[in-house]
Order: sequence, then C-alpha cells, then structure tokens
Amino acid sequence: MLKEEIRLSTQSKIIGKNIHTFDLLDSTNLKAKSLLQEGEEEGTIVIAEEQTAGRGRMGRSWVSERGKNLTFSVVLKPQISPESIGIVSLYGGLAVAEAIQDQSHLHPECKWPNDVLLNGKKCCGILSEAVFKQGSLVGVVMGIGINVNQRVFTRELRATATSMSIETGEELNRISVLVAVVNQMDEQYRLIQAGHLDDIREKWKAYCPMFGRMVSIRHHDSFITGIALDLAHDGGLILTTEHKQIKVLAGDVTLN
Ligand code: BTN
Repeated sequence: MLKEEIRLSTQSKIIGKNIHTFDLLDSTNLKAKSLLQEGEEEGTIVIAEEQTAGRGRMGRSWVSERGKNLTFSVVLKPQISPESIGIVSLYGGLAVAEAIQDQSHLHPECKWPNDVLLNGKKCCGILSEAVFKQGSLVGVVMGIGINVNQRVFTRELRATATSMSIETGEELNRISVLVAVVNQMDEQYRLIQAGHLDDIREKWKAYCPMFGRMVSIRHHDSFITGIALDLAHDGGLILTTEHKQIKVLAGDVTLN
C-alpha cells in the first residue's frame, strides 16, 4: 500500500503523521505495541498487507484475505483517566462507522463494544490494547480490521461476516476507505484529548440499535440476559436484569 498516497490524501494532523507499511507481519498490534514501548509518537499507523497471526478479542484470531482488506493499528496516547479507557475503544468503531457512511450509501451499525456491522453482519473488528512500561500506562494500540473487498469467507464465518464490497456490490478503493477512517479518527481524537468523552458516547449510541432491547452477553463461559439500558461514562454497558441493574465491561452481545 502506498504510504505517500495515504499521507497526501489525509487532512489529519495527529493520526497518520507517521505511517509504517509492511507486506507481511505477524500482527500490526504486536508491531505497534513494540514501537510504542520504544517511544513511538502518538498517531503512528502500522499497516500490513498480510498478517500471519492477526489477533482478535477474547483470545480469538483475525483472518483477512491478503491484499483485499485493511489491517492496521494506531498508536494513541489519550489524555484520560485509566477508568475511561473503554470510551477509547468505542471511538475506533465510531470513526469506522462514520467513514463507511461517508464513503458509501451503506448504514453501518456499531455493536458493543467495538464491532461495526453492515446489514447485521460484521465488517470491522477492533482490538484495543493498553501498553505499560515499568507499571505505568504509556498508551493504547488500537488495531482495526475492515473487510473491504473480500468476497469469500470460510464456512465458519459466512453466516456472520461481510465486507463493504459484498454490501455495495462494488469494488472499493482501499486507500480511500483508509483515508476516510484516518480523517475521522483524527477529528474524534480531538474530542477525546479535549475531554469531551460524552460526545463520543452520544455519537456512538446513535449508531447502535441495541438500547431498549433484550440482549444476552456472553463473557467466556458466563451469560447475562437483560435489557440494554445505556452506556456508562466509562464505556461499559448498563443492563437491567430481572433482579438488578448491572454494568458489564466486556463480552459478546446477541440481540434476543
Ligand atoms: C475482533 O473483532 O475480535 C477484533 C479484531 C481486530 C483485528 C485487527 S486487524 C489489525 C490489528 N492487528 C491485529 O492483530 N488485530 C487487529
């Protein structure tokens, strides 16, 4: 992927100031984490055409067809208290949803905590990882996988995964999609750095059809069912169960 083309097309000030492109990596998150530990600046993007060990949430893997999609990680140094780090995760999904909406006639939805869906199927997954050095937080690596032009998925994924190309019926320019995401991330990052976390929450909620509906949350081997009430200030999901109101910080949501 042409880094000059990406750099010239983006209006962004922070996100994408430095871009490292690779043909092959184990995982862009692993590379970005080691760069961050060595003192990499905020906003740096690591992109790979292919990952041999793409990582997903909750110990899963992320498989993406070489050269068809976007797999990249962004180095962030949000000036927020560690309790609000969940909002940073939502921020990535919001930026991708806004970018897809700008680039197509599609209506993306955000799924808590940080997937983006098209017509009910997943087209983007995000893995945010906090990076510590000698016990203190040095930043967050936000890894983003967007299915752009992939048209065939394994049998296992076929029922739940999609791509922008499948949903539009057209081949998309990956650089244009990336530039749109980078510009959105840059714009929303300013809100984070200015402490306007509630703006991110509200914008994210507008992309999410889950509120007021009965959902089940699975976290490893435990299940909770209740009505999704709201997003907490830290990005957690507030649920009303049969017995009480609770806040969930991680898990996979299914609408009942
Ligand atoms: C998920 O939905 O489980 C999160 C998937 C995150 C995938 C991206 S691809 C780029 C970055 N590098 C990785 O190893 N993972 C993230």
